[in-house]
Order: sequence, then C-alpha cells, then structure tokens
Amino acid sequence: MRSHEKLLLENKAWAEEKKQREPDYFERLAHGQQPEFLWIGCADSRVPADVIVNAEPGLIFAHRNIANQVIATDFNCLSVVQYAVEVLKVRHIIVCGHYSCGGVRAALSHQQSDVTLVNKWLTHVKDVYRLHREELDAINDIDDKANRLVELNVIEQVNNLAYTSMVQSAWREEQRPLVHGWVYALDDGLLKQLITLGPESKIDPIYRWDV
Ligand code: CO
Repeated sequence: MRSHEKLLLENKAWAEEKKQREPDYFERLAHGQQPEFLWIGCADSRVPADVIVNAEPGLIFAHRNIANQVIATDFNCLSVVQYAVEVLKVRHIIVCGHYSCGGVRAALSHQQSDVTLVNKWLTHVKDVYRLHREELDAINDIDDKANRLVELNVIEQVNNLAYTSMVQSAWREEQRPLVHGWVYALDDGLLKQLITLGPESKIDPIYRWDV
C-alpha cells in the first residue's frame, strides 16, 4: 500500500469510530462552528495544534506557516485573523512556536540559494534577531541561541497581532480576545506560556488604531 492510501484507510476507520461513539457526530459538526480559539502555529509536522492539546474538531480555528509568523502584508494569515476575530468571535488567539524550529534556525544562517521564497519569508525572523541582537549574540551555544530566538519570535508575533486594527477594535468593543504566546518543546511534548496581551495592554502609540 502506498503511503497516501494508508491515510485514506485511516480516515475511513476514524470516521467509523467517531460515528459509532456518537451517531450524529458529523451532522452536529456540519451544522456550523463556534471555535473558542484561533491557533497560529508553525507548519512543522511535529506540532499539530489539535493533537498536542487533545482538542476535538470544532474547538480550534487554525493557521499555520513556517515559523508561526503574523506579517502585516500577509493576506492569508490576516484573513484568518479577521474571520476568527470578527465573525467567529474567538475568545483567545494563541501563537505557538516550538523549540528546534527549522525556520527560525535557518533565519540565523545565510540565505539558502535553493529556497528563494522561504528566504524572503524568513527575512522577518531575521528582523526579530536584529531587534534582539545584543541578547542573542551573548548566547554562545547555537541551539540555545536559536531557541531563545524562537521565544522572541513568538513574542514579536503576539505584538504584531496587537498592532492590527482588528484586534484593537475587538479589545475596545468587546474586551476580547486574549492573545497568548506559547512555545512547545519537542523533547517532552509540553507547552510553556511566554506572554499574554489583552484589552488592558499598552500598545506603542505608533501602532495604535484610532477611530
Ligand atoms: Co517550526
């Protein structure tokens, strides 16, 4: 059997099991979604949002990209944020990075000639490095340095969300969502909280959205 065929078989077994446990499971889900969380995570195959927090379908609206970035000109991510915040009205946004992130590690190195698009995407992580160069250059071990950049990158993305008019508007009008920055450790499967911003958080005036 080829590997993709195994996925289709597994899907059949999974759907069957769900139906057996709860006959109207799929009808209920097909009815609509009311997720409480928006998850912005890394595309890394080892950090599947729903699996690591043991969540059932319907709980987490998700967007994943290389190095879990929120870029002001990325309509893909921002469309997800807009829909989650303004239509689904999620209570929490979680930006989840992970230690040993290949994207963050690559951003600490030269551009690679065989991945020209990825280079461009990682430019923003290089910017985070440049903002924190003093702290990061004081760390000698390359793994420790990359892992600290993983944390600083998560914090930066949480701030990037806070800079959006969508989040600031929801904070002002509806006192939600809380925006959390978490980091996941591949070697023990545990999440660590780094930062939470909410309606009371102070935003640098140059990023403040005025109506
Ligand atoms: Co990663």
